[in-house]
Amino acid sequence: NRGTRKELKEKIKKGSVTVNGQVCSDPGQAVTDTDEIVFDGKIVKYYKYEYYMMNKPWGVITATEDHRQKTVLDILGADRRKDLFPVGRLDKDTVGLLLITNDGKLSHRLLSPKKHVDKEYYALIDGKITEKEIAAFKKGVRIEDDFTALPAELELLTYRNKAVENDFLCLRKSKAPKSDLQDGVSEIRVTIREGKFHQIKKMFKSCQNEVCTLKRIAFAGIELDQKLALGEYRDLTSTELITLFKHC
Ligand code: URA
Repeated sequence: NRGTRKELKEKIKKGSVTVNGQVCSDPGQAVTDTDEIVFDGKIVKYYKYEYYMMNKPWGVITATEDHRQKTVLDILGADRRKDLFPVGRLDKDTVGLLLITNDGKLSHRLLSPKKHVDKEYYALIDGKITEKEIAAFKKGVRIEDDFTALPAELELLTYRNKAVENDFLCLRKSKAPKSDLQDGVSEIRVTIREGKFHQIKKMFKSCQNEVCTLKRIAFAGIELDQKLALGEYRDLTSTELITLFKHC
């Protein structure tokens, strides 16, 4: 346990930290990864970059700060370093895998429209998904007058005549659909390689379907850790980091 930022600042002021053999009493002193930092008698490593995987909960916005609404960075708490930001965006009502880092270069590469990084989603769709929609997604759905999405893989997992409450509870606060789901509910998986605003919702809308719940389950070869409950996060493992760097 490294302690909170506040606790660490106090320890530094008390002289418990040395940098290259010199006592450091200024918590704001800049260090690099080549400096030798000793804290309470033990060598510690300075990490320039941090990489987290979060299971974004429903009702939280993907931003660093906001005056009115809770952001994904608020979830990390006051104890976080100030230069972190989310990689890309999930809608307020979308849950699932979100990367958070302070590595601007990596984020830029992952989000570059030229890289076509894979993003995989699980969704519940109001209505029946058939071969027609699967073929349309495969060809590329036109979502705006001047924008046709790249080919995407759509897979129907299950179809139920009637939605059950659990369909929506599984994503906890996900909104229940407006209609009574007369046509039943399709559970699907879809992979896209772009990141247009509301892309998945727009793709289904252009096929006359409504997305009831949306969850991102993979990004750039990294899968959402099933052990993370909504609102929980953890450091990326070194294997996951290697996968990320390979994907861009
Ligand atoms: N597509 C959407 O419509 N919303 C998201 O949050 C992500 C992809």
